[in-house]
Amino acid sequence: MRVVALANQKGGCGKTTTATNLASTLAQLEKKVLLIDNDPQGHATLALGFHDRDFTLSTSDLYLTSDILVEDAFLEVNPDLHLVPAGIELSGVEMILAREPEKEMRLRNNLRRSALPYDYVLIDCPPSVSLLTFNALLACGEVIIPVDPSGYSLQAVGKIRETIAVLREKKGHDLIPHILMSNFDTRPRYVRAVMDELDELYDDELLDSVIHHTVKIKEAAASGVPVTLHDPESRGAFDFRRLAREILDQEVELEVVALDHWSALLHGPAVSQAGVRFEADFPHARTVRVTGSFCDWSAKGLPLNKREDGLWECHLDLAQGEHQYRFIVDGSWLPDPHNSRTVANEFGGANSLVVVT
Ligand SMILES: Nc1ncnc2c1ncn2[C@@H]1O[C@H](COP(=O)(O)OP(=O)(O)OP(=O)(O)O)[C@@H](O)[C@H]1O
Ligand SMILES: [Mg+2]
Repeated sequence: MRVVALANQKGGCGKTTTATNLASTLAQLEKKVLLIDNDPQGHATLALGFHDRDFTLSTSDLYLTSDILVEDAFLEVNPDLHLVPAGIELSGVEMILAREPEKEMRLRNNLRRSALPYDYVLIDCPPSVSLLTFNALLACGEVIIPVDPSGYSLQAVGKIRETIAVLREKKGHDLIPHILMSNFDTRPRYVRAVMDELDELYDDELLDSVIHHTVKIKEAAASGVPVTLHDPESRGAFDFRRLAREILDQEVELEVVALDHWSALLHGPAVSQAGVRFEADFPHARTVRVTGSFCDWSAKGLPLNKREDGLWECHLDLAQGEHQYRFIVDGSWLPDPHNSRTVANEFGGANSLVVVT
């Protein structure tokens, strides 16, 4: 399963257009897709033909209650495409969670508990670096950054990449960025200059596919259907099919790198009769160790080994009972980002918890 956010704090750059059309096109290509509308504007919900009156449960419930999971809240767009809808109620989440610990992990923790029989989970973000966007980015292994050819686009790409770097540094969370030229009329000279600059600055991250500016894409959104259904022969439909294939083609390459790790790591350490297997997803770390109550919080910790697929792993034979632990990643102590069971520690942070029965 690949979990992909559509994010860019710049408004109107094509996040929702990409989220809804890519989700629909991937579903047409026989992938099972979930789209989470993570924007109080609810534009993805509208673009797929739903209105407030069509739902009672929505994305805000995934944030605010631990009992409501994706399988309770989704609407069926078609058998291969599900949508967790959103509306204005989602704007209250940031205030309601203001004093809650780990508030930026709410969506991720909910997805971990949800049954996710999907090949792709796409998350459409609002145009801000807000709690909602942080939650989406922490729940994802990849982010598509749509960029439109306006004056502030390059600056906006810089900002979202800074956010990604902060998450890597502070949370040990690594994201693969893909930059997508969206809503591009490639004829004017200034647009070609933007394209050249993007190519020069972000060659590795820039997707080959370009979503051109077309009236059909706008019409499709207004009529609540994806452009590939609205007018399958249009340029917009062609662009989204090309983008979907490019994303699908990456699967082979990415399989080994990071993204299946997301599902492998859904529940923290695996406890079996053979012992406890700790796994950690820090692809850029030089050393990863685990320390905890089982080794008297040794500052040196016990080493995890890097597997061929990039995950760090170690097996420990732990006694029955509760054990608190933290990872030491290149010298920095942090709780296990893949384990939602935590306990507050005396330093005002959190220790992860594993129970051996
Ligand atoms: N390729 C395109 N061709 C024509 N119109 C487009 C294209 N892409 C986006 N638009 C239009 O531009 C507007 C903004 O697009 P969209 O809603 O996808 O952006 P967004 O980044 O999600 O915006 P927000 O930041 O408000 O969430 C919409 O009216 C949409 O229909
Ligand atoms: Mg949007």
